[in-house]
Amino acid sequence: MNKASPTSEPKLTLSDPDRQQKALDILSPLVLTKTQKERVKEVFIEEMKLGLAASPERKSSLLMENTFIPELVNGTESGEYMALDLGGTNFRVIYVQLKDGKIEEEIIDYYHVPEDKRLGPGTELFDFLAYCISDFVHKRNLNLTGRTYQLGFTFSFPMTQKSLNIGLLVSWTKSFNCSGVLGEDAVQMLTDAINRRGDLDITVSAILNDTTGTLVMGSYLDPRCGIGMILGTGCNGCYVEKVSRIEKWPGKHSEAEVIVDIEWGAFGDNGVLDFIRTKWDRAVDDQSLLVHSYTFEKYFAGKYLGDLYREVLLTLAKSGVFCEGNVGGGEGGSLTKHGSITTKDISAIESEHFHGGRDDVKKVLERLGLKPDEDDLSIAQHVAGVVSYRGVVLVCLLIGVLLDRMEREHCTIAIDGSLFQHHPRFRPLMDKLISELAPGRPFDLRLASDGSGLGSALTAAVADRLQKKS
Ligand code: GLC
Repeated sequence: MNKASPTSEPKLTLSDPDRQQKALDILSPLVLTKTQKERVKEVFIEEMKLGLAASPERKSSLLMENTFIPELVNGTESGEYMALDLGGTNFRVIYVQLKDGKIEEEIIDYYHVPEDKRLGPGTELFDFLAYCISDFVHKRNLNLTGRTYQLGFTFSFPMTQKSLNIGLLVSWTKSFNCSGVLGEDAVQMLTDAINRRGDLDITVSAILNDTTGTLVMGSYLDPRCGIGMILGTGCNGCYVEKVSRIEKWPGKHSEAEVIVDIEWGAFGDNGVLDFIRTKWDRAVDDQSLLVHSYTFEKYFAGKYLGDLYREVLLTLAKSGVFCEGNVGGGEGGSLTKHGSITTKDISAIESEHFHGGRDDVKKVLERLGLKPDEDDLSIAQHVAGVVSYRGVVLVCLLIGVLLDRMEREHCTIAIDGSLFQHHPRFRPLMDKLISELAPGRPFDLRLASDGSGLGSALTAAVADRLQKKS
């Protein structure tokens, strides 16, 4: 059986050469040319510049938001802190005990955020978050009497930050769309919900994005960390930028560097990436919860990759190249049904392909009522490789630009998220492609598990230290 390699470009070999050529022709828009890759880099550089400009000639699709993180952990922080991590359907409540800047104890509990809370009125969402904190505190027997816990709030959505503890929601993304929160300060809404309960003495002292939390956690693990990334349901990155380059930040500043949240999930929302956009990308966008937004993220992030894959297979079927034109219709849906194939399926298909197997791919197709022959299985494996490969290339193009921009002797890139952890192509291919795209820029990819939440607790500790000092 054919074993694919995670670091090689996917190859398709069918027993029927005509069918093979037809499939490859259909798939060709998903294979980025050298010119397209160069252009993605150029456009990213330009959009970053516009996003940081004081009065840009046009609006950038990149928010390039100052996170106001004043300092990183310096080894003197001690005490107990809490954190919340909201961004996906799993919400985390975290307790951390620090001694001399080291995490001595951590407790993380997971809560499922039901759909009615993700799509209902904002106050109900924040009431639910406050309820979870209370549940956590009581279940874990945390002593609340006579003390105020400082809490870091990881709120993984685009925000305009006014300070470390003021974050106004710019837009919802991923699977959230609550009313009454746009333009509001998420810290205030959480504080109000905590106060409505009356059983918690908690001060929300910092709000941050999950990428920022990951970078803070990364720098705790390795002081050379300069980039934080999430490769999960959504995708985004942040990096350490020179304050002198942030033209849009008025006034004089004592710090030389600050973390900037790029919000690259929205890269291309103004049309600048249309030259790589395929009809399948448009179809995925059209069927998503928040259409015409987060263009870049929808090219490959965990919430969307399964659907992209399904759309491509659907076209191949309709062209008669795949499964004799059948689109299925089994217990698990069909090729026309949104959500019938998930990113988890793709990780499984890719994984067994790297081991030379084809049971999982067969199972996925049979679940949809399809009856694949051997060539169909090869096509299905190939397409999983093609959509995944394009995703990794896109992410690496951006990282390469950042490494060049930062000009560090060495840069550790802290990453959290299910796609990075469970999709077998991402990590090895990223290692290879980043080295090729940014030659002479040594880097390490470092998994920062639960980094987004733990980094938030660390940030609350840093804020506490600075406040005590002042
Ligand atoms: C979405 C959010 C962004 C977050 C990313 C990863 O892109 O807008 O803030 O960092 O998902 O969770």
